[in-house]
Amino acid sequence: MIVDFDRNLDRRNTDCVKWDGLRATFGTDDVLPLWVADMDFASPPEVVAALHARVEHSTFGYALASCRAREAIVGWLERKHRWKVDPDWIVFASGVVPSLAVSVLAYTRPGDEVVVQSPVYPPFFEVVKANGRRLVNSMLLNVGGRYEIDWTDLEAKLRGAGTDEGPRMMILCSPANPVGRVWSRSELERIAELCRLHHVVLVSDEIHADIIYPGHRHTPAGDVTLMAPSKTFNLQGLGTSYAVIPDARLRQAFRTVQSGLGMGQINALGIAAMEAAYTMCDDWHDQLIAYLCANRDYLADRIATSAPGISMVLPEGMYVCWLDCRALGLGPGQLTDFFTYRARVGVNDGRKFGPGGEGFVRLNIACTRSTLVDALNRIEEALTATGLAERQRNEV
Ligand SMILES: Cc1ncc(COP(=O)(O)O)c(C=O)c1O
Repeated sequence: MIVDFDRNLDRRNTDCVKWDGLRATFGTDDVLPLWVADMDFASPPEVVAALHARVEHSTFGYALASCRAREAIVGWLERKHRWKVDPDWIVFASGVVPSLAVSVLAYTRPGDEVVVQSPVYPPFFEVVKANGRRLVNSMLLNVGGRYEIDWTDLEAKLRGAGTDEGPRMMILCSPANPVGRVWSRSELERIAELCRLHHVVLVSDEIHADIIYPGHRHTPAGDVTLMAPSKTFNLQGLGTSYAVIPDARLRQAFRTVQSGLGMGQINALGIAAMEAAYTMCDDWHDQLIAYLCANRDYLADRIATSAPGISMVLPEGMYVCWLDCRALGLGPGQLTDFFTYRARVGVNDGRKFGPGGEGFVRLNIACTRSTLVDALNRIEEALTATGLAERQRNEV
């Protein structure tokens, strides 16, 4: 069946963050929302049917993570990522961010260092700092518009150079939101090796693992791998994710913290949706990748041809794109004002992603092509109306 990703769904008044949270976030409703990382597409019909069937049953008591749910995950990981997982390694959780926090509590002590790599998804900083651990940042390098790991710096930080004890944990974003890298097998092996060498628990956030563009392949990594069907099938509101933890000791430590926090419950609807998504929607998923890839290429083309002063970091996976706006020469705050009030396009402020994010914005392409066209027309018009386009041409 051909999926119609061009169908515009009205998401307003559905209590959705992306469309109904505009005023709270941007101070105005008059922006086209291309920010928070969910999709404007309907979930697969098989998922919607499974949810209908579950709702029809009409009881929503405590849910069990059945063998069926585990087998659905095992099958998906094997088909999509050639990863053979023992069903017993899977620990269910409501979300990946809660599992990041659980990992911090399970594998580190107050005051310990945790390594991250900015620019990165903002909760990476919060789960470390809010739990009284120390953040150690090994910044990614922007090498001609593609992000690379600064190996010398990362090695020094994992070794704990200049500190008494060194870090106990690293949080890896794989693929890397917002910088668009799908880390190669050899890069991942090198990170894992360094972590092993320095006794650092590697926690890998792989929530975007299923959105990979042609020419790239996702490789699961990490002592603790955090995954979910949410980004892939637009199920973010159903609070269902899981950790894959092969080592029994690490798994037990994770579970102990979960139960200490009273986090044992799973979502009955989320489990039903996940089972359907992971067992019946491979074709839908293939079509989604093709649509998103075409959107990515369209965005790259339009940015190159009609957005002087902006350049795009071509993502190798994921539906968030990292736009380098430094050449526009706008000061802190002015850049987001330009997008919000002049272009009327709601994007994420790059500064939220930590050091290295200044002068960048993140734009979500999981929308219909017509929405994307509208957004680019708005950006192009605003560049012209503000004289920024003209200034760029004169500078070239
Ligand atoms: C890297 C990354 N991790 C985690 C999340 C959110 O995970 P969850 O909604 O399961 O807590 C996001 C959402 O954008 C993300 O980009």
